Amino acid sequence: MSEKVTVSVIKADVGSVVGHSRPHPAMMDACRDVLAEGVKSGCLQDFYVTRVGDDINLLMSHYKGEGNCDVHELAWNAFSDATDLAKKMKLYAAGQDILCDAFSGNVKGAGPGAAEMTFEERGSEPLLFFMADKTEPSAYSLPLSKVFLDPFTTTGLVIDPRATKGFEVEIHDVVDSKKVVMSSPEETYGMLTLLGDTTRYAIKSVESRSGVGTAAVVSTDKLNLTAGKYVGKDDPVCICRAQSGLPAVGEYLQPYMNTMLVAGWMRGSHYGAFYPCSVECSDPTYYDGPPRICCIGFQLNNGRFQGLEPMSAPAGERTPIDFFAGREWDEVRRRAIKASAMMRGHGPFMPAILGPDEMEYTTRPSVLDSLKQRFEDLD
Ligand code: F6R
Ligand code: MG
Ligand code: MG
Repeated sequence: MSEKVTVSVIKADVGSVVGHSRPHPAMMDACRDVLAEGVKSGCLQDFYVTRVGDDINLLMSHYKGEGNCDVHELAWNAFSDATDLAKKMKLYAAGQDILCDAFSGNVKGAGPGAAEMTFEERGSEPLLFFMADKTEPSAYSLPLSKVFLDPFTTTGLVIDPRATKGFEVEIHDVVDSKKVVMSSPEETYGMLTLLGDTTRYAIKSVESRSGVGTAAVVSTDKLNLTAGKYVGKDDPVCICRAQSGLPAVGEYLQPYMNTMLVAGWMRGSHYGAFYPCSVECSDPTYYDGPPRICCIGFQLNNGRFQGLEPMSAPAGERTPIDFFAGREWDEVRRRAIKASAMMRGHGPFMPAILGPDEMEYTTRPSVLDSLKQRFEDLD
């Protein structure tokens, strides 16, 4: 099939059972029903509804291109139905990421986050979906930098003739809404100068320079700015194509063996260590965290998500590989808890909490205001 396929992940937090923990299964079913209709009507090829922590993630494949009104409307309707259920059950934060009363053509700016990628489906097309909870888009910058810029992580950058040609990296300034495309390996140090500032810069996408197309794309919608005030970390997703000139599945996973501190966690205002786990284990059970990272994988098969189910399984009924489920990640999880506990020891002191501009909650302006008369100049 030469027509280009689009893979879209649209995600939102529209309510949880017990605080900000986990959507109710009926909410997930409501989303499945809407997307199944989308397959019936010919809008979608296939879909898979999953979650990480309190976020519902809608994985969709179609031939309608990125930012398509019909596809986005399906996602919007799915989240609206899930919100209605959450409200009926009096779940916590029901409808939290639905910032507009009505759908107006695209979920961008309306609350949900989206990562979308369009490409020519190869003879065999392995896809990875990273899904994070209680953190922000720039949390992917360190792992993706290792994958695409560091030959000590991705040996393919040295020994795979196509990967050695390098990658184009689109970097977003999420504060000033600007973007720049930089090339690896030539501009690696310059890229790292920007990306090291995780409060402002984030990788949006990575493109192969050997003609394989887009390799990775991240959702970078900054909810706090969209809403005009902080209403939650983005809990971003990242879609990656793997193998045959792109990083191998194992090269994409390798950086998560490191213990990485990311911003978010409790009240979106703390640094905690990324905790790689299965989707089933992604409830935020330790101080509303620590920030979870899940990774599931499918093969794409003529626009359909092929997992472990029989080929005859109806759309939506998919069984992915859950990459962080295994025991080999126990050691990383142990280290993540150890590092997170160390940060917790600082209580409300930096570096446990974020810098003043990044705090999702703060009483600082009102405290300063109340002290206006009492502050005196130093001698
Ligand atoms: C972080 C998160 C939670 C909440 C915290 C307070 O992203 O979702 O840590 O920030 O539970 O929530 P509220 O303000 O709703 O009581
Ligand atoms: Mg949430
Ligand atoms: Mg969340």
